[in-house]
Parts: sequence; structure tokens; C-alpha cells
Amino acid sequence: MSAYQFVDHRFDVVVVGAGGSGLRAAVGCAAAGLKTACISKVFPTRSHTVAAQGGISASLGNMGQDDWRWHMYDTVKGSDWLGDQDAIEYLVRNAPDAVYELEHWGVPFSRTPDGKIYQRAFGGMTRNFGEAPIQRTCAAADRTGHAMLHTMYGQALSKEVEFFIEYFALDLIMDEGVCRGVTAWKLDDGTLHRFSAQAVVMATGGYGRAYFSCTSAHTCTGDGGGMALRAGLPLQDMEFVQFHPTGIYGAGCLITEGARGEGGYLTNSEGERFMERYAPTVKDLAPRDMVSRAMTIEIREGRGVGPKRDHIFLHLDHLDPKVLHQRLPGISETAKVFAGVDVTKAPIPVLPTVHYNMGGIPTNFHGEVVTKAGDNSDAIVPGLMAVGEAACVSVHGANRLGSNSLIDLVVFGRAVGLHCGETLKAGATQREPQAAWTDGHLARFDRLRYAAGAVSTADLRLEMQMAAQEDAAVFRTADTLVSGVKRLAAVHAKRSDLKVTDRGLIWNTDLVETLEFENLIGQAIVTVEGAVNRTESRGAHAREDFSSRDDEHWMKHTLAWFDDATGAVKIDYRPVHAYTMTNDVAYIPPKARVY
Ligand code: FUM
Repeated sequence: MSAYQFVDHRFDVVVVGAGGSGLRAAVGCAAAGLKTACISKVFPTRSHTVAAQGGISASLGNMGQDDWRWHMYDTVKGSDWLGDQDAIEYLVRNAPDAVYELEHWGVPFSRTPDGKIYQRAFGGMTRNFGEAPIQRTCAAADRTGHAMLHTMYGQALSKEVEFFIEYFALDLIMDEGVCRGVTAWKLDDGTLHRFSAQAVVMATGGYGRAYFSCTSAHTCTGDGGGMALRAGLPLQDMEFVQFHPTGIYGAGCLITEGARGEGGYLTNSEGERFMERYAPTVKDLAPRDMVSRAMTIEIREGRGVGPKRDHIFLHLDHLDPKVLHQRLPGISETAKVFAGVDVTKAPIPVLPTVHYNMGGIPTNFHGEVVTKAGDNSDAIVPGLMAVGEAACVSVHGANRLGSNSLIDLVVFGRAVGLHCGETLKAGATQREPQAAWTDGHLARFDRLRYAAGAVSTADLRLEMQMAAQEDAAVFRTADTLVSGVKRLAAVHAKRSDLKVTDRGLIWNTDLVETLEFENLIGQAIVTVEGAVNRTESRGAHAREDFSSRDDEHWMKHTLAWFDDATGAVKIDYRPVHAYTMTNDVAYIPPKARVY
């Protein structure tokens, strides 16, 4: 396509995304002597990791005895036995070193009186295989992600990672099943760029913005997942969407689970601490899927609070104001600004809000992207890696435990650096880029730039978000999900009538939002299709018409391919890795998950 010329770049590794996982991967690759680029559509320290509040899990044992095996047990159980146990073992065994590395790099963790890293309680984290809640989540007040992101950006600069900031990644450059790079649009001058690399690492985050109300930044549009689907690759376990129990009612802003970790609790309209009925041992510190369901049941049964009885109260007003000031300053301010509540005096109105995607681009624990090829369900896609929320490694299975996300970012970001260091040779010869590899990218870009239909991107995006919100919620049935499938298929069909009003190439936010919408819609569709297909309840996927977990038929990962031209979804499966790296701690699922 002659209308566009590429500016060419050649690197050993190109990381797409500059959040926690992208920065940690980039640091590792650069430290291994590989010429490393990091492309980001926002300034790195604006990436969504900056919003992570409560902390990062690791069995440091600073607040009493802990053991990586207990962390492993909690993560497997939290995942409702859909997590891959080899990857979970890799995560929890490497977690303490990954946190100490952050400490040595300068992350300003909160401290115990004797100077150790402060750790707080978080949902589903327990002592001695489920006996009682444990303090395992390392915290920098309630701004842990902010502290980590700024520290890692500094590290990346010191290792001479080359940043391409405010570049919007368009598509993966694929050559007969091998990833050879990525194309991108530079937002401030309108130029198009072609990055060749031995390895492309997708670190593009989740797709929370497929929903109407979420804690995710507006930038969380799953750009990597969209690119993977367009490259003909499957996404894994997309039906598992996490609702965080405590989004501020009406605004959706996150109130950290660390609030309950510091002693906060939930009440219904009768002033009852209802979590005692649902999770007698860990109460308000049950995993998020259980707390979100309990809150939804309380509201449905008429025990919600407020004039419409449609939300729940989170109490911090009994806590020492000094603790709130020291440990929870960020959410105290958020509650004031977005709910008008002084947390020392009144409860915060909260509601379960979309927070995290357990599903994503399937990988092994080195970060290599895998797919199913014939009988091989661990077939590696050469040249392509993924990490963080964009990936599904899968350590979170059907439900992620709070604070297991930040540790996932750094442990697997580090794993990507180690693997690239071991397998790539700096400056190795790469194939010359060919026009045929990218003609499709340019045609799509051009089609959207000149879209001259009648429907605005904003209207179509809202239609998608409302369908996902209403039809693939905390509780699901065949009726709601089939409705979601139909509504989202209609949204997809209307793309042919899209209207983009700005034809320019410089700071064209209309076109950026349209590209983001294109990335979201495919993922929204595979989410509801996967949810219709999975006729059981597991973790965050709660089917009222199939209310039990069914290990005989469903202890397997969903793989979903999406044909963007027709809107058709193909579904297949990969087995769960119910074995560990060392085989000294494989966990067999009991019938029920009790807390
Ligand atoms: O509640 C929170 O602070 C969120 C943490 C997480 O999602 O891991």
C-alpha cells in the first residue's frame, strides 16, 4: 500500500507495553545484552500498574511463619483448580526473590517496627493450608503499583532499554506461523513504524474496558489480545472475568482489598457482617469470586443498602485514624472524592466491579506463547511471548487471588528476560521484512481511518460495554449469555457502518479509540461464547443453571479462536497441568471449595 511508508527498526527483543510485566521483561532482556525496545501507547509511568493498590504476595514470613507451599495451596485452591500447577509452583517459589529484588532496586515498601517489609492480609491467603488468614501481601501503603512502576522505569532506563513512547501497536508481523515483529503508529507525528525482532513480548494488559463499569484505566483495551486473535491465535479461559468486591458504588473506582486486610468489613442493610455466613473461617477475607457472589446474593434478597437497596457498605470507621492515614491514605482520599465519604466516620458504598481478566494469550512459564497444533496442546509460537494480564500462564485459573497479580508481573517478566537471555543471540541475523507481511495491517488501518458510516465508535463501544455488563455478570445463565452472544454479534456486524470523523494522523484520538474498540470487540465475543459453552460453575464463572464445579468434564482450559471477517468463534481445549515442577506438592481438587 503506497500511501504509507514504514520507518524500520531492528531489535533483538521488542516489548509491547510498559506496565509492570513489560518493564520487568525489558530490564531482563537488556541486562542479558539483548538490544531491547519497549513500545507504549502511554508514558510508561501512566501504565495501569500504577493504579495497583494493596500489594504483592510473597511468603517472606515477616509477620509470622509462612511457607511457599502454603502460598501454592492457596493459589491452586483460589484458582478453583483451573490453574496450571507447574506455573503456580514457579510463581510462588520465585516470589520472595522477586520482591527482594524490587526492594534492592528501591521500591519504598512500608516497614515493620524492626525494619522488615510490611505484609498485610489479603483474600484467600492462609496459614497452614487454609487454617486462618495470613499476612503475606507486601505493601507500599496502598500505592504499591505506583512505587513498583516508577522504580522499574528507572531500572529500565539504567539498562538502556530504548523506549518508543506514545506509539500505538497495530498488528503482529507473522510469517508462516513465526512472529517477526510488530507494526506501530506514532501518535504525535503520524508516522508508521515496522519493528523487526527475534522475539516480541506482549505485555499489553487486560481488556477490562469491554465492560461498562470496571476498575481498569480507559487504556485497558486488551490490545495484545486483539492482535493475537487477528494473527489467528487462540485466547485462553476468557470466560473468567474477575469482579472486585469493592468498587465504589456508581463510580467504579477501586477500594483496595487491603482495606479488609487492615480490618475493614462488609455489612448489609441489617448491619450484619454477612460474610461470616458465607466463609466462616476467613470471613471478609474470602477470595474475590466468593465475596462478590455473597454481596450480589445479599442485594438480590433485599438486604442491600441505600435508597434503592442496591449496594453494600464497607466499614473502616472503627479503625484507628492513624492506621488509615499510614496504611490506606490513597483509598481514604478516593472515598472522599468519589463517594463524599470521610472513612473515619462513615462506611463506603461499594459494589462488585470488573477488575481483572484471568484469561489471555496462553503461555508456558517461560512466557512463550503456546497454541494447539494437532495433538500438541503446548505447541510454541516461535518469536512470540506474552506476560502479565495480557497472558494466561495460567497461574490464576478461574479466579485470581488479590496481590497475586503484581507478583505474576515481576516473576514472569523476569522469566521472559531469563529465557530470552538463554535462547537468543544478540544481533543474530533476521529475515528482511516483506511487504506481504504487513499489507493487511495497512489495509485495516486505512479502512478504519476512512470509515464513513453512520455509527460513532463511542456509541458502538457503549453498546458492547452494556451487553457485557448485563449479560456476562457475577451470575450467569444460558439465557443471559445467549442474549450476550446475540447483542455482541450485532455490535460486531455494525462495524461496517462505523464513522471516524478525523482523517488525520497526528493525535487522532478518534482513530485510536476505534482501533481500541476493534481490539475489545473480539475479546468481548470470545468471553461470552466461552461462558455459554462452559456448563459448570468454577471460580468467577458462576452459572445459575449449572451451579456445581464439574471436574470430570470441565477441568480443562478453553481455547477460543475468532474470525474477524465473519465473527465466528471456534472453541477447543487444553488440559490443565495438574502436576508441579518438582512433583512434591500436586493438589487434587476436593469436591467443594470451603473457606
Ligand atoms: O484490592 C487491591 O488492592 C487489588 C489488588 C489486586 O488486584 O491484586
